[in-house]
Amino acid sequence: MDKYVIEGGRPLYGEVEIQSAKNAVLPLLAASVLTDEQVVIRRCPRIADVLNMVQILGELGCKTCFEGDALVIDPAAAANHEIPPALARELRSSVFLLGSVVARFGRARIAYPGGCDIGLRPVDLHLQGLRRLGVDVREEGGSIVCACEGARGAEVVLDCPSVGATENILLASVTAKGSTLIRNAAREPEIVDLQNFLNKMGGKIAGAGTSVIAVEGVPRLHGTEHTPLPDRIEAGTFLIAAAMCGGKLALRGAKSENIASLAHKLREISCKIHAKDDKIYIECVGARRSPKLVETSPYPGFPTDLQAPMTALACICEGSTVIVENLFETRFKHVPELIRMGADITVRGRSAFVRGVPALHGADVCASDLRGGAALTLAAISAEGCSTVVDLGFIDRGYSDFEGKLRAAGARIRRVRV
Ligand code: EPZ
Repeated sequence: MDKYVIEGGRPLYGEVEIQSAKNAVLPLLAASVLTDEQVVIRRCPRIADVLNMVQILGELGCKTCFEGDALVIDPAAAANHEIPPALARELRSSVFLLGSVVARFGRARIAYPGGCDIGLRPVDLHLQGLRRLGVDVREEGGSIVCACEGARGAEVVLDCPSVGATENILLASVTAKGSTLIRNAAREPEIVDLQNFLNKMGGKIAGAGTSVIAVEGVPRLHGTEHTPLPDRIEAGTFLIAAAMCGGKLALRGAKSENIASLAHKLREISCKIHAKDDKIYIECVGARRSPKLVETSPYPGFPTDLQAPMTALACICEGSTVIVENLFETRFKHVPELIRMGADITVRGRSAFVRGVPALHGADVCASDLRGGAALTLAAISAEGCSTVVDLGFIDRGYSDFEGKLRAAGARIRRVRV
């Protein structure tokens, strides 16, 4: 297990290149199973979740290799419909494979998916959607077993705008017979990216980015090449890093329209943010005013994946902030660790009541999920004194070279083997 050793208190300056979005690449990898022709994902980040998904594709029989920063997938030889349980338990996004594997092979089997422990994370909406498309879905001893002689289009209404369920239904319906309508669909930019990718493969999808998506089933899909959209959560993490440490950062490749809700909050705190060409600039000088209230909600609301970093920032703003986590039941595991660094936070149910302090102090802290680990790292590089952050496996799931990018911007951070 690795840990970060950090000497905090230095401002950040420089330019950071934003990776392709983890939560766009993962469904694209699942989609590659829908064709027997070559698929190329350019600028593919070598983060743990992506590498795990690539390993699953290999277990299904796909041939994969990296050529520079491009991932080349040859799905022609894919023939196995069973997603290995050990890998499925590693990765929440393995569940997207249900839709594409059952569409390709007429059957699929997957152990209940794992992923970061941030809540119950049910898959009932995924299974309801597949059943609406004519897929027989059974649960057998901790696994989900799907069978279908040919999915047929249907109207699917989601009880809540689930990102994964929207993506799974898209993957299962793009080659179904007839048309499908997804109502109350999730509107995240990553779903627009998936629509664009599937349409480049010959799909006929419209409406992604809105809450109604229309799919006209096509008999087959062909190969394609694609550069995924930039990671808005990584970009938001670095914007919050600058707000906590002070200084001036330029984020290369970030799309400002995808992080408008965060930019709005950071301006409330008194950061200066502007976008020009394909960069977002942030400058943070002087006192940070509390944003008063941060409520997570589905896109385009404030992203739940930036709640933990935002909670860390609220700890050193003047005044009090209420943070409300509306999407996941247990996404405040970073709070006890922030309190060890001198934060003043009280959690009641889905709300965290933060009273700002002048500065956090160094401590030895432990990450327990991906975005919480990022939040603790930001707290440590902004704190007075030295800290360690252990269990970097969580951070490695979603951030490529997180410490290298922070160090290049002036943070005193290094990774050591424990
Ligand atoms: C995706 O997870 C992201 N993961 C998550 O990012 C992100 O936090 C989440 O969307 C919300 O934006 C990937 O894209 C790989 P959901 P997903 O289905 O699809 C409930 C990160 O840090 N729900 O939109 O699992 C669920 O309990 C990760 O990068 C059901 O009730 O999220 C939650 O309350 C963490 N039944 C809400 O919907 C279902 O069948 C949102 O979940 C599915 C979901």
